[in-house]
Amino acid sequence: MDGNIEEAKSKSILVTGGAGYIGSHTTLQLLLGGYRVAVIDNLDNSCEEAIQRVAQLAGKYGGNLTFHQADLRDKEALEKVFSVEKFDAVIHFAGLKAVGESVAKPLLYYNNNIVGTLNLLEVMIAHDCKKLVFSSSATVYGQPKEVPCTEDFPLCAVNPYGRTKLFIEEICCDAQRADPEWKIMLLRYFNPVGAHPSGIIGEDPRGIPNNLMPFVQQVAVGRRPELTVFGTDYKTKDGTGVRDYIHVMDLSDGHIAALSKLFETNDIGCEVYNLGSGRGTSVLEMVAAFEKASGKKIPLKFVDRRPGDSETVYASTEKAEKELNWKAQYGIEKMCRDQWNWSEKNPWGYRSPETTD
Ligand code: NAD
Ligand code: WQD
Repeated sequence: MDGNIEEAKSKSILVTGGAGYIGSHTTLQLLLGGYRVAVIDNLDNSCEEAIQRVAQLAGKYGGNLTFHQADLRDKEALEKVFSVEKFDAVIHFAGLKAVGESVAKPLLYYNNNIVGTLNLLEVMIAHDCKKLVFSSSATVYGQPKEVPCTEDFPLCAVNPYGRTKLFIEEICCDAQRADPEWKIMLLRYFNPVGAHPSGIIGEDPRGIPNNLMPFVQQVAVGRRPELTVFGTDYKTKDGTGVRDYIHVMDLSDGHIAALSKLFETNDIGCEVYNLGSGRGTSVLEMVAAFEKASGKKIPLKFVDRRPGDSETVYASTEKAEKELNWKAQYGIEKMCRDQWNWSEKNPWGYRSPETTD
């Protein structure tokens, strides 16, 4: 570990979207691993408090974190960030991610996610920084015909958000084909949940949560009366949808593994890895685990399936295990314990009832 820290000390990483849910946890793990980190975020779906808490949790490494409030669509602002510091690699989390919103506002999603990424890649080239880790998603498997999903499955997007991920994957691969100096890791996350075990940082979505666990969490702390369960007639163990939940700390460590591989291996082109646990859990199993962890009853309302939802999705983790030497450690009990710890300590996330929408 000390050897790794020594090596990391000389490395500087730019984290786009580092104030957000996955970005804040990964930034912390990078700092603790000895990396210097610059975060760029427009705070569209996050707040600066998250950055301050990451610095606090990083202790003696907190001084290695800098923050730039800027939008990736503002190329001049990006140029400025790159002109004050030389980065060894970029981890690119910044993007909009709400599926429903992407259907209602597709141009916003194409503009934010794709234009933002194009600017980033162009500025990286201009500053000769050609190592990239990109946040892709299991959404690129569409509604998979079988499980577990392996990286070579056919890809398809079923909404504009998913299409931005698919397009960006292809843009990255094209850029790498045209210039083999690029080394790119496309990481397809499954369903990230949980929080840092301290309960000091966690997920704090704006508005009504789209995803299952943030919603469950808000019911548990009394912000919402009940959880709506979408679909009870799937051909699964209890009729509800099955997903691959992965602890956000495991996911963060997956990024460190991917980054290490980028630095250590010469013949990386544009590689894709699933980051999941490899296990399928139903909605009702997840709710039961959260009730057990929190001691709170989650009232349920059963309704029809949510349009566009798949029945069962989980990852094949073989490739990441073999090539990144990374494997998720935590089960759903720990995910729910840490999520509850975060929400009990921060029922309004980083904000207060007055400042929460
Ligand atoms: P998040 O919304 O918490 O974090 C994204 C961050 O990016 C936010 O802090 C937001 O303010 C920032 N941002 C958005 N657009 C920006 C722009 N144009 N310029 C600068 N900053 C911008 O989301 P997250 O859950 O941490 O997700 C991180 C990444 O992982 C996203 O790209 C998302 O699509 C992807 N992903 C997330 C999940 C999930 O379920 N959470 C699953 C698969 C993939
Ligand atoms: C999980 C399960 C729902 C909410 C989405 C995106 C995907 C990726 C991860 C970014 C499903 C059920 C949910 C609720 C429910 N994000 N559910 N009541 O749909 O697997 O994936 O997030 O890339 O792109 O599509 O995650 O958390 O929304 O749903 O019953 O209030 O919980 O039907 O079975 P999903 P989710």
